[in-house]
Amino acid sequence: MNSKELREKYINFFISKGHKRIPSASVVPENDPTVLFTTAGMHPLVPYLLGEKHPEGARLTSVQKCVRTGDIEDVGDSTHNTFFEMLGNWSLGDYFKEESIRWSFEFLTDSKYLGIDPKRLKVTVFEGDEDAPKDEESIKIWQECFASLGIDAQVWDGKNNEEAKIFPLPKDDNWWGPAGITGPCGPDTEIFIDLGKSTNYDTCPNGGDCKPGCHCGRYVEIWNNVFMQYNKDAEGKFEPLSQQNVDTGMGLERTLAMLNGFDNIYESDVLKPIVDKVKELSGNKDEKSARIVADHIRTSVFMISDGVVPSNLERGYILRRLIRRAIRSARTLLMPEKFLPTLVDVIMGIYGEEYPELLQNKNKIVEELEKEDEKFGKTLENGIRELKKLYPIGGIDPENLPKGMEISGNILRIDGAVVFRFYETYGFPIELTQEIMKDWGVAFDEQTMQEAREAMKRHQELSRTASAGMFKGGLADSSIETTRLHTAAHLLLQALRLVLGDHVFQKGSNITAERLRFDFSHPDKMTEGERKKVEAIVNEQIRKALPITCEEMNLEDAKRLGAMGVFESKYGEKVKVYVMGDEEKGIFSKEICGGPHVENTSELGHFRIKKEESSSAGVRRIKAVLE
Ligand code: ALA
Repeated sequence: MNSKELREKYINFFISKGHKRIPSASVVPENDPTVLFTTAGMHPLVPYLLGEKHPEGARLTSVQKCVRTGDIEDVGDSTHNTFFEMLGNWSLGDYFKEESIRWSFEFLTDSKYLGIDPKRLKVTVFEGDEDAPKDEESIKIWQECFASLGIDAQVWDGKNNEEAKIFPLPKDDNWWGPAGITGPCGPDTEIFIDLGKSTNYDTCPNGGDCKPGCHCGRYVEIWNNVFMQYNKDAEGKFEPLSQQNVDTGMGLERTLAMLNGFDNIYESDVLKPIVDKVKELSGNKDEKSARIVADHIRTSVFMISDGVVPSNLERGYILRRLIRRAIRSARTLLMPEKFLPTLVDVIMGIYGEEYPELLQNKNKIVEELEKEDEKFGKTLENGIRELKKLYPIGGIDPENLPKGMEISGNILRIDGAVVFRFYETYGFPIELTQEIMKDWGVAFDEQTMQEAREAMKRHQELSRTASAGMFKGGLADSSIETTRLHTAAHLLLQALRLVLGDHVFQKGSNITAERLRFDFSHPDKMTEGERKKVEAIVNEQIRKALPITCEEMNLEDAKRLGAMGVFESKYGEKVKVYVMGDEEKGIFSKEICGGPHVENTSELGHFRIKKEESSSAGVRRIKAVLE
């Protein structure tokens, strides 16, 4: 089945169930200050999920263009991309769980539609917590659906995972939204295809504990049905909504891969021609780099078509980062100069019919891409040459470090202004400089990157003042997001030490506007119980609204005070110590750090660990978000 057939089947199925098709909204959300891009089909529908009447009625369906860049560094593997289409259907206070689940089951299994063998399906439901009860209703409906095809759908009891069909899981897995910081959300039920074996590893590292939600690749989520009946407010409280809504989302590329038996999304007909063209132009070299070029240019085309232009601010900076990342990969593939118009043609061929705005904006798209290529292409080689002077591939002599540089293991400490200068002089987004270094086997430490981000922020503020007229106010500022996540990192470190022990030290961190990545020393995989405890402790500190203060002192005094020091490196004479908490509410954390931080932990919202995995020997990695 190709993309056109899948879109048509989906939309026509829901039209047959009384839905009206609405067009895809722009990838730039209108009137939503809490996000930079449209990340799901529900995004344009937020006011209607909150109770406003939609002109097309209470049953809607769409194919929505979505952008998610939180996992940009994972693009190129079998499942990650930064642009995708989401097939969705909504009930605005009309039908609820019963119809939603029955229709999903019918569409997936009936041979008139997708005809998937029900034996390959597994589903998850919300197990319940203090905010909402266990979703017994969905369990019952699923059991009836499976029973109608002669399948006894057992609920997972923690052991018989091969037989079980229905898995109750916690909020981490089975709660969706809000898309930004506040807004509609609720428990969900997620539908997975069971591939029967792990695909990311030879055998699943979780052994007997492999179930939907495991990261080994055995289960691929294709559809998410969210029962939106709550609104999360700025204090992080869940208030019941005036109406019970359904919000579903099915990823087009993933579903195509599953239906066609592909082991990765890049085989689907919306991506393969782009990857193939990159390979043809480059003489068929590295698959991963070809996928990065294909994915990033595709996303850039959609962004520019919806009005984003490369800049050093917010959306424009993300677009710039995507294009420059693609150009760098293209250069390593030795692609011919001027490859961009050729790729744009291929992308137009795939999407022109479904998204005519691309054809209308083609000239502008090519122009913006080429402008960016020209700006960056000229300085790319010079920048790499300079970077190699700073850090020669193969390493530097630790006895002979350049001024201001410190190295410990593969972590490099240098003045963050140096990293920023690569943006100013050669146009390397600071994250790109970090990625290039990582390709060479080293990484800047968190303080270096934090200083670079601060320099970037000052630079962006200057640009913002210069272009004040362009922004009507209210747009989310990605630097505020990174500051909040940075504060969350301090709470996380202390919570990990409390739960796991004093052997836990920070080993690295990387913060984007979307998420926090945090590496720390610990020998074992964290149990679910430990993860939950850590989350609960962090959220408790947020709830307590701890004030955050900063004091300058010399390193000796900071150590005497018991302040944690990132990487145990030398910080020079005076250091800043950030203290979270006070006498009255209790001091929770003290850390030597360059800042910046928010003023009060109450500004963080809700903290959630999305993933916990191995980073290297003895080092674990957590990916977490604030919601
Ligand atoms: N909004 C839900 C999602 O993105 C359907 O998964």
